[in-house]
Amino acid sequence: MAYSEKVIDHYENPRNVGAFDKNDPSIATGMVGAPACGDVMKLQLKINDDGIIEDAKFKTYGCGSAIASSSLVTEWVKGKSIAEAEQLKNTQIAEELALPPVKIHCSILAEDAIKAAIADYKKKHAG
Ligand code: FES
Ligand code: FES
Repeated sequence: MAYSEKVIDHYENPRNVGAFDKNDPSIATGMVGAPACGDVMKLQLKINDDGIIEDAKFKTYGCGSAIASSSLVTEWVKGKSIAEAEQLKNTQIAEELALPPVKIHCSILAEDAIKAAIADYKKKHAG
């Protein structure tokens, strides 16, 4: 299967690979797995007191499309509010990266990772 140029670019030069200290209260961690293939994605967001995502990092054990999807979303969410980041759809990721149908679940993994990280943040900051 041919990967699109954007997938190859993100795969070869992934943005924001790494991890933050998960005990830092401003860090939200989302860890998700794809049942279809067993790939795992960890996405972390650094969220300031105004609810703005200041930074993001990821580690993905998976295919090129999953790595490209996570790399892309770390760029997209920076500067966004939590509410805006929650609106990000896997279809936008798939479209940007020109993912073929069999790779759509890789972009769903990235959307799920954002949602999981935001859920973690809300849990940490509840009450
Ligand atoms: Fe996920 Fe290939 S099926 S890495
Ligand atoms: Fe399963 Fe890409 S995440 S093949």
